[in-house]
Amino acid sequence: MPENQKTNFKILTLNQISPLGLGRFPKDNYKVGADIMDPDAIVVRSHNMQNMKIAKSVLAIGRAGAGTNNIPVYALSERGIPVFNTPGANANAVKELVLAGLLLAARNLLPALRFVETLQGDDDTLHKQAESEKKRFSGVELPGRTLGIIGLGEIGRLVADAAIKLGMKVIGYDPNITVESAWSLSAEVKKAHSIEALLRNSDFITVHVPLLDTTRHIINEKSIGVMKQNTIVLNFSRNAIVDEDAVLTGIASRKIKFYVCDFPSQKLQHQESVITLPHLGASTQEAEENCAVMVVNQLIDYLQNGNITNT
Ligand code: MLT
Repeated sequence: MPENQKTNFKILTLNQISPLGLGRFPKDNYKVGADIMDPDAIVVRSHNMQNMKIAKSVLAIGRAGAGTNNIPVYALSERGIPVFNTPGANANAVKELVLAGLLLAARNLLPALRFVETLQGDDDTLHKQAESEKKRFSGVELPGRTLGIIGLGEIGRLVADAAIKLGMKVIGYDPNITVESAWSLSAEVKKAHSIEALLRNSDFITVHVPLLDTTRHIINEKSIGVMKQNTIVLNFSRNAIVDEDAVLTGIASRKIKFYVCDFPSQKLQHQESVITLPHLGASTQEAEENCAVMVVNQLIDYLQNGNITNT
């Protein structure tokens, strides 16, 4: 609960936040901007606050997103400052990008695109060159293939639902919750699996866990060793969830056919069998608006009424 019963508030924004959200701060008693001094609250998206000096005036932090690893949550909680986040508000956007990554990798679209871009000549020549090489880009179809989902929160469940609709078999594992409690899906998905069973039986593996000490490098040399040959691995969580050196070894030994991740990486950048993206999972108009609205509502409720929701 904020210490005093203030009626006017100053909000510092550290990233561009959707005006649909920021517009909810009542204009009469809220001042909102990127150059606010001594703010009562801070709204942040991806800005790294880990080493930032946080002013004494700050009563709350709002993260327009699910993960809070860019925020010193424990240090703030020792100061009694709650951190609000928006689990679920961008889950559909991430799910859609995971599906795009799945299809991109299953159909070898990125190597195919890179190949076509090297071709030269008139349309006839391009066509002949393309026809003579296209066999090496032959892919696989999804129905009947097994998708292993590590992490059964909002995103993991949406991905499971979509994959089932595409005809895939889905198996799940979560390091923090029991599979049975996580699902309202098919009986097959509800069956508890050990992470080893998931690794051993999946054609595709996607990770949707927060970055914690217990999940850092959850995909590592040992876990890759358990996978089938030619597994496609997707990481739309955080880059440190997956050990990149192990991925390179896994690609060399063909345990991993393709690695798709939503983060730039110097190590992986120019690898033929890797797609790296600039952290685009939550970058849709809808997700940005949903997150902004949710986090601003939480901040207003806290600053004005002392209510804590979704920390
Ligand atoms: C999240 O944790 O939800 C994402 O990192 C959101 C974002 O891209 O800002």
